[in-house]
Amino acid sequence: MFSPDTYAARRAALAEAVPGGLIVLLGNETMPMNYAANPYPFRQDGSFRYYAGADAPGLALTLDADSGEATFYGREATIEDRVWDGERPSVAERAAAAGISSTAPPDALTGVVAAARQAGRVVHVLPPYRAAQRSRLAGLLGVAPEAVAPSDVLTDAVIAQRLVKTPQEIAEIEHAVGLADEMHRTAMWMAQPGRTEFEVAAAIESAATSRGSYLSFPAIVTVRGEVPHHRAGSHTLEEGELLLHDAGCVAPNSGYASDVTRVSPVGGAFSERQRAIYDLVLEAQEACIDGCAPGASFRDLHDLASRTLAAGLVDLGLLRGDVDELVAAGAHTLFFHHGLGHPLGLDVHDLEGLGEDRVGYADEATRSTQFGTKFLRFARELRPGYVMTVEPGLYFNATLIDLWHSEGRYADAVDYDEARKWVGFGGVRIEDDVLITDDGHRVLGPPIPKRPEDVEAVVQGGA
Ligand code: GLY
Repeated sequence: MFSPDTYAARRAALAEAVPGGLIVLLGNETMPMNYAANPYPFRQDGSFRYYAGADAPGLALTLDADSGEATFYGREATIEDRVWDGERPSVAERAAAAGISSTAPPDALTGVVAAARQAGRVVHVLPPYRAAQRSRLAGLLGVAPEAVAPSDVLTDAVIAQRLVKTPQEIAEIEHAVGLADEMHRTAMWMAQPGRTEFEVAAAIESAATSRGSYLSFPAIVTVRGEVPHHRAGSHTLEEGELLLHDAGCVAPNSGYASDVTRVSPVGGAFSERQRAIYDLVLEAQEACIDGCAPGASFRDLHDLASRTLAAGLVDLGLLRGDVDELVAAGAHTLFFHHGLGHPLGLDVHDLEGLGEDRVGYADEATRSTQFGTKFLRFARELRPGYVMTVEPGLYFNATLIDLWHSEGRYADAVDYDEARKWVGFGGVRIEDDVLITDDGHRVLGPPIPKRPEDVEAVVQGGA
């Protein structure tokens, strides 16, 4: 957690940005896996944590946008809680840690919201992304769950504030990237024939959890890198395969996330074919990182990645034609079918729960309808303080190649016979976390091996 003043200043800025009314922010509840006493690991709502600090279930915050007064809602521990789960801070202690002196039990929220509504005040809520939140908001607002109407003005104010990271937030993200460095080096030196994907995934997770952290999303550790979200399986690694590891964790005590991807050659040496694709993806990633600066459009950077990759694919004989025309038509999306990256912060896809288009497009950009390009999560201009992942990739997906070939799609632009020869190659994605500074950018964290020679050296060191 940060100092109480930090949370007070964040709330003051939010109250200033919202023109009157009562702001209600719900913390998350525990979520049962299959019965109440066996919950999923708890993850606090990002916006609640941003304004109220506390990382525990069953809490809520109201912020009066007219007076700036905040009230923190929570339940005191019962003797059963204390016996089974141990001692925990009182509600007043949790509130004080966030600079709030007014506290109330959770049930009081119902009366506070009802009184605001009766007084004709606007009650501002954020878009719910869990059924339990939607149901609680529906009860508070006296509407059916499907009729809960999020406040646009609150949502936009939260997005604008949370997108710009302060130095103390950047330090936390950088700490999480430092832990990700350990995770990815672990994966590199475990990329040896005879290991299973499960073993590598477990070691990656342990590199985080043994340092008091936990994963910011389920790790992707696979030789099936052509499937961008493929999870680890029982596959035993073989010499010459490519192991893609996309994983991050959170900074202990603050929850800020990292998200990094590297690709390791199993056994320690990239083949010539692997180098061709790896070097091309690295060229695209470095060009896009170089382009990260205030005023640069992330959509333009995505297009830069697409053009760089398409040019290389033409050189490799996989695509034919003029690079700009290929990209405009979308032929390259057979091999690069996701967006360049996304904001990073308290949420690994930061703020996405508030609406992907609201965060990534707003009124500034229009989402493409083209396969692949439509998965670009963020297309707006970059501003100082934004932290973005930059993660181009190239994939050889047999299902997609066969489907498009059978449909005759891009028949003049794609050499499908050549593409078939790459099936089984897997995929390459290279991802770093990049801060937009006043005059450019900075890749956060320590340098995580990325040049192919450096990756090979770490893999060879684990043999
Ligand atoms: N790194 C996984 C994702 O961004 O979805």
